[in-house]
Amino acid sequence: MSAEQPNGRVPDSAYFDRWYADMDISPVKDEIMARHLGVPGTYAGSTGALPWEGLDEIARELRLQPGDALADIACGRGGYGIELARRCGARLFGVDFSAVALKHAETTAHRHLEEHRAGFAVGTLTATSLPSHGVNALLCTDSVQFAEPPAAALEEFRRVLVSGGRLALTTWQPTRPDPRTPPRIKALHLRRDLERLGFKEITLARRARWRAIEWALYEEVVATPNDGRDLALASIQQEARRSLEQFDSLQRIVVYATAP
Ligand SMILES: C[S@@+](CC[C@H](N)C(=O)[O-])C[C@H]1O[C@@H](n2cnc3c(N)ncnc32)[C@H](O)[C@@H]1O
Repeated sequence: MSAEQPNGRVPDSAYFDRWYADMDISPVKDEIMARHLGVPGTYAGSTGALPWEGLDEIARELRLQPGDALADIACGRGGYGIELARRCGARLFGVDFSAVALKHAETTAHRHLEEHRAGFAVGTLTATSLPSHGVNALLCTDSVQFAEPPAAALEEFRRVLVSGGRLALTTWQPTRPDPRTPPRIKALHLRRDLERLGFKEITLARRARWRAIEWALYEEVVATPNDGRDLALASIQQEARRSLEQFDSLQRIVVYATAP
């Protein structure tokens, strides 16, 4: 989900803390999203806009072995990283600049992983606070576009990955020039920047099915009655209207790469 501030500025941690606090008292948005994205009940309320089925290919591409370390950067409420760590037997380090989101992530992790296998810390996309060359794989779903600039986040990802470690990113990319495209999506030059940083085996692929799931999700969100008191629903309704208007101008992408 590309949380938008009405003034178009990159949202800060206070903005995201409010965004998550609104969600914590509003189950309607979470229920609609979980149903469209296929999120299992035990992960209710813990996900962004990536369909759960996407985790099958991401798990394969990250090549995690039992005992390996996985970082989930800008993890939000943490569901994707927790599920990957559970499936692959990995240890998880989740980082986000929203302390409110991390509280939720910790609760979900306790439900699915032994305590020693998951840790969460406040940090940013460009300064994660993780040690250098300490993780075998790094996941960043729907968030790299918030880094200022995105290339600085990729540099940070290279720093924390071991040589040969795998990176998986999901985000959006313009399909054509459109003045309404968010500036931070326009600022993404993922292949170019990953190549410049020495990443290998870079693949950038479109995921039309994930985008179609977003369409159906947004249509239901827009049609859901809201008396204005459900702020989390109002926020996603605003975003859904904007996204539906310019839907064809963005495509869903997933990027995989190997650290040098
Ligand atoms: C759309 S949510 C995605 C969350 C999660 N990755 C997911 O897919 O469910 C974007 C996340 O990025 C975090 N975020 C945005 N800018 C950030 C920054 N500069 N540093 C760290 N986290 C950031 C927000 O707090 C939020 O949790």
